[in-house]
Amino acid sequence: MTPAPRKLLIDTDTASDDAVALIMALRSPAVSVEAITIVAGNVPLRQGVSNALYTVELCHAKVPVYAGAEVPLHRPLEVADWFHGKDGLGDHGYRPAHPVEQKIDAIEAIVATARANPGLEIVTLGPLTNLALALEREPSLPELVSRCVVMGGAPCCEGNVTPAAEFNLWVDPEAARRVFLSKLKLELVGWQLSRFDAVLSENDIAEIAALNTALGNFSLECNSTAKAAYFTQTGEHGISLPDPIAMALLLQPELSLEATDHYTQIEARSELTRGMSLVDRLNVSGDERNAAMWAETRENAVPTKIHWAMDVPGWKQLLIESLR
Ligand code: RIB
Ligand code: CA
Repeated sequence: MTPAPRKLLIDTDTASDDAVALIMALRSPAVSVEAITIVAGNVPLRQGVSNALYTVELCHAKVPVYAGAEVPLHRPLEVADWFHGKDGLGDHGYRPAHPVEQKIDAIEAIVATARANPGLEIVTLGPLTNLALALEREPSLPELVSRCVVMGGAPCCEGNVTPAAEFNLWVDPEAARRVFLSKLKLELVGWQLSRFDAVLSENDIAEIAALNTALGNFSLECNSTAKAAYFTQTGEHGISLPDPIAMALLLQPELSLEATDHYTQIEARSELTRGMSLVDRLNVSGDERNAAMWAETRENAVPTKIHWAMDVPGWKQLLIESLR
């Protein structure tokens, strides 16, 4: 008997890699996307809503899109138009034909969807502002959510916005700190997993182009700015897709080749290391010499599953199947 599809909520700051991740979920037979909630990040909130609505239409899907936080909890919004383009999708003029507005906001949608679907899986592809606010609105959220895959962080490695921090956690470090101090069963998919051989090479790009499908062509075109920006940022050629990699690990957990559980803290006080994801890989937090620094985390949180390595060919095969 075919198992019932898993219920999924996607929280996103819809720019070019987010859009490809949305396509992967909307085209997957393994999950039923119950809601897409938008948070300001890569682009301002309204643009993120528009980009998500366009992507849902492109997939001929009927999934409600809810508007969430316009700004981080305690800081001004810092967008990433330098990377994804002004509209977040490479500035090619994409617009949804039927921009449907929902009556409730993203925070209420997260809470209502979790209450209606105990065991719900959540994947976050942007700053954690919406999720932090949902935790405040519904403190029992961790019992209702079976798994929360977070695209973000730079576990024991360099970030992409500062040497210490990856963009999603850097934009709203207070929200990230709140989420990582909750009992949510978190899995961290850091920026480092989307680099090097995981980047779409010219051959991979040619394989997607050869599909000649609307989804494949859109995925390449909307990432045109990101491709150039990624080379400027890292010197690496190709299209780097952090959110689709997080989505791949959400959809097919067996693609993870190495993952271990560790207490994790997010820095929110220092400007130098704002948004840093401190992963206790050597379990020093259990040593009484470090007890004071880790007491709040060990008391309020559970260890986060850190994904350290992934089946790269498997990730790329899943992506291509989604775009076929
Ligand atoms: O650092 C990469 C992350 O920040 C991705 O989610 C990208 O879309 C941006 O939100
Ligand atoms: Ca994103």
